Amino acid sequence: MSTAGSFLWGAASAPHQIEGNNVNSDFWANEGRVPGMERSGDALDSYHRYEQDMRLLADAGLNAYRFGIEWARIEPVPGLVSRAELAHYRRMIDTAVRLGLTPVVTVQHFTAPRWFAEEGGWLGERAVERYAAYVDAAAQILEDVPWVVTINEPNMLAMMVTMQKRTLESQGEWQSPTVDTDDDRTVDTRAKLPAPDPGIGAVLAAAHHTARDILHERTDAAVGWSVANRAFACRPGAEDVFARLQHVWEDLYLEAARGDDFIGVQAYSSQWVGPDGIEPHPPHPDNTLVGSAYRPDSLGMAIRHTWGVLEGTVPVVVTENGIATADDARRIRYTDAALRGLFAAVDDGIDVRGYLHWSLLDNYEWGHWGPTFGLASADRETFVRTPKPSLAWLGDVARRGRP
Ligand code: FCB
Repeated sequence: MSTAGSFLWGAASAPHQIEGNNVNSDFWANEGRVPGMERSGDALDSYHRYEQDMRLLADAGLNAYRFGIEWARIEPVPGLVSRAELAHYRRMIDTAVRLGLTPVVTVQHFTAPRWFAEEGGWLGERAVERYAAYVDAAAQILEDVPWVVTINEPNMLAMMVTMQKRTLESQGEWQSPTVDTDDDRTVDTRAKLPAPDPGIGAVLAAAHHTARDILHERTDAAVGWSVANRAFACRPGAEDVFARLQHVWEDLYLEAARGDDFIGVQAYSSQWVGPDGIEPHPPHPDNTLVGSAYRPDSLGMAIRHTWGVLEGTVPVVVTENGIATADDARRIRYTDAALRGLFAAVDDGIDVRGYLHWSLLDNYEWGHWGPTFGLASADRETFVRTPKPSLAWLGDVARRGRP
């Protein structure tokens, strides 16, 4: 394990959201089935243009890139590992290093092969074994990668699988959890969702621990997983409900990171918990393009909460933080405030090793192209990338070392 080195300053992406034509994945299949869901299609063609993407970061003076490898490409058929795809992702890792970017590699970011979904996905009897076999194959190219995230947002994934379980039980058919409304600006994919079933969380934790052990044996990577931090706030009188929701939505997943090399923190907003549960974000002119409250302070809250649950035993890497907005000056204000919260935590002795902004590019937001999180935009026909002022701004902050 090699966690040494300078603070990671960079941005993040996920394969399905930028690569294009992830045709063997479960999400691709859903896109074609669920009414109202926009398709990812060619996405940003990052499968072919990853070097350009990385150059955006390097040219801005950043030193890290978080990106994912796609299980559905690497193992399109059970047990059949594509050497060509492994070689492709290895070239990505080498390119990042050549450009001076520390690779932070995500092994699983929501999507899985179609065959895995058809076997029951994370509800299937062989789920952990299947995932472990994939990680074992992927380990061949991760040997010298310094940071590996096994599973992105296991708590959000568990929530999606909980929905899957419910629809299977009631309708005999799986439907995408994406909540569709008439107006992208009011899409709040997080307000009306069921709490993740702790049993599913336990399956994901077992998968994570198995992956961690494989990666420790076969690679030098620091291994962790990245939790969606909810930054819940408790209404007076709702303490019991709050404690239960805090546990099933977040703390179970933080606890599972005990003994890990790092824990990934991912924070965007904060939500109230009242006697009836999580309160939807009230409509407000300051809300973001995904309908969530403008809460840059959620990052500092999330870091402190995570550190507290793990009793200061696990270093923190911020693997996602950002804002869906069309106003880039607002993105800069949000990020500046979030980073001040991060460094206030550092000043209080919390061990934070990096900040990876979500997202590098305006990408496919799980069924919608509307919400723009990027430090750069990309033309969806010509695929030309255009950096926004926030990208150069983040590079300046990185050069200074703090906001
Ligand atoms: C996180 C996901 C990421 C992106 C951001 C906005 O939940 O990990 O893929 O959708 O939210």
